[in-house]
Amino acid sequence: MLATILTLLIMSLSIPLWQRYQPHSPSSNPSTDSITPQQKARLHEIADLMSEIYETLVAMRYLDPSGIQRGPHNLTALASHFTTLNIDPAVQYLYSILPYIDPAAAGHSGFLHGGEFTDFRDAERVEQGRDPFYALYGVETVPDYDSEDGAYMRPWVTPLSQLGNHGSVILYDARRHLIWMIDQEGWSTTDLALRDVEEREPVSVNRNSFEHIPHRDAGEVLRDVVRWYRALDEVPTGGESDGWDEWSALGDDGSLRELYLKHGWPDAFDGDAFEVDVARAMARMQAEEFATEPLRVAQEHRKSAERVDSWLARVRDQLREGVQTDEEKWGARWEIVRAMAQAAHANELVQLAEHRVRDLCPGNVCLQPQGRPLWELQYLHQEVEEQETRLAELDEQLSEAPSEQPVLDDDREQRNKERGLLMRKLAVYRTAYEAARLEAEQQCPGQTFQSMTGLERLQWPAWRIEYPGQRANALQLLQDARELLAQVPDDLQRVRAQISDFIRWQEAMVGNSEETD
Ligand SMILES: *[C@@H]1O[C@H](CO)[C@@H](O)[C@H](O)[C@H]1NC(C)=O
Repeated sequence: MLATILTLLIMSLSIPLWQRYQPHSPSSNPSTDSITPQQKARLHEIADLMSEIYETLVAMRYLDPSGIQRGPHNLTALASHFTTLNIDPAVQYLYSILPYIDPAAAGHSGFLHGGEFTDFRDAERVEQGRDPFYALYGVETVPDYDSEDGAYMRPWVTPLSQLGNHGSVILYDARRHLIWMIDQEGWSTTDLALRDVEEREPVSVNRNSFEHIPHRDAGEVLRDVVRWYRALDEVPTGGESDGWDEWSALGDDGSLRELYLKHGWPDAFDGDAFEVDVARAMARMQAEEFATEPLRVAQEHRKSAERVDSWLARVRDQLREGVQTDEEKWGARWEIVRAMAQAAHANELVQLAEHRVRDLCPGNVCLQPQGRPLWELQYLHQEVEEQETRLAELDEQLSEAPSEQPVLDDDREQRNKERGLLMRKLAVYRTAYEAARLEAEQQCPGQTFQSMTGLERLQWPAWRIEYPGQRANALQLLQDARELLAQVPDDLQRVRAQISDFIRWQEAMVGNSEETD
């Protein structure tokens, strides 16, 4: 999560950099005169293979075909930007022929080993392509490939994907026709074919140099990516910015892979049946999680109570044996006061959660397993309902007259894309619902989710985190803190300040809760 925030932050901070660039005098179109026919053929091989990869992802139902935008693209407007960034004509030409993915229409932005699709029609991403690993962010860059913090993307090298929340980036060297697939954190290859290749020592003093990381012929790598998908060595699993959906939910545990095989991937693939089955697998998984939620919550509270208890035990040990100075001694006492308050809090939560389990799950069974088809049906019912509500919202917004303002037109376009994806998904979920309904009628004749479970929806009665003892605990902690402060010797300014700060804060908290009570 923190990493996502950092990445987003860095991405948004990188915008002003672009504004610093002074556009050169407009030059003519990116010149292709200097590119030899052989070079051109190799660049087309890259663009064609990227298309083949994207089409494979469409066939796998991971991308909606409307989201692929094929070349050639008119990049005249970026010419001066390319010059400023010193991008080789071969790479400029490649940018104009690559296919691009529009995630809003395609439905996903996650691509291969935690990376994302990129789009070099976007000036910012062209610029980020000069530092695809965010390695030089905040570093005073020197345009010297042989210095420690130097630039590391030579003009004829470009990424073909972009960094997601860490993960891999595909890098292409247009002069040597080579590809590296590099994981940002491991700083090693994620090319499946190079897993057993021994890593060499870095050869450059530039610590961002990736020359030593295993790499191979670009065409071979991209053809292999298609093969990996066809052989299910790779299953698309969604990206960080795609949110939590069927692909992230079912990708990791192998369920998607099984469903692909079940439906004849790759050569006899029934994509429609696959998608319906994916929706049903999702429903079963969600219903199953729902069915045991009260038990899981109680278990989580028990675990965190254990963690607090062992923290308390550790500080007590320290106080007995480890502390040397007075400051450490009083610091440990203060820590014990806080740990005891947290332990009281954690144990009350355990009590509450266990009480709830006794109420809702007699004999540790929250929902009778014979009702399982009805749970799944209820999930699909709610899902269809939600999608229909969203569709109605979009239709209402789209029925308003088109605006004169370009920004609002942009919104409109986004909504149209969302609507396209939603219509497809809704058709899948309605079919899944019908199939689940027939099954439930056979297996639980005459029953409904409501009659079977006594619940209205897939929702347990509200779980109140505030509990009767909460205020008493807060007051107790305040009193303990005051008593401790009265004993701390005057010369231990730091400990005294910590405790008095806490007291002030706690007084404000308790005061606030008096008002809201
Ligand atoms: C390409 O775009 C530029 C403006 O950015 C425009 O002047 C030019 O006519 C376009 N070329 C083609 C072939 O559409």
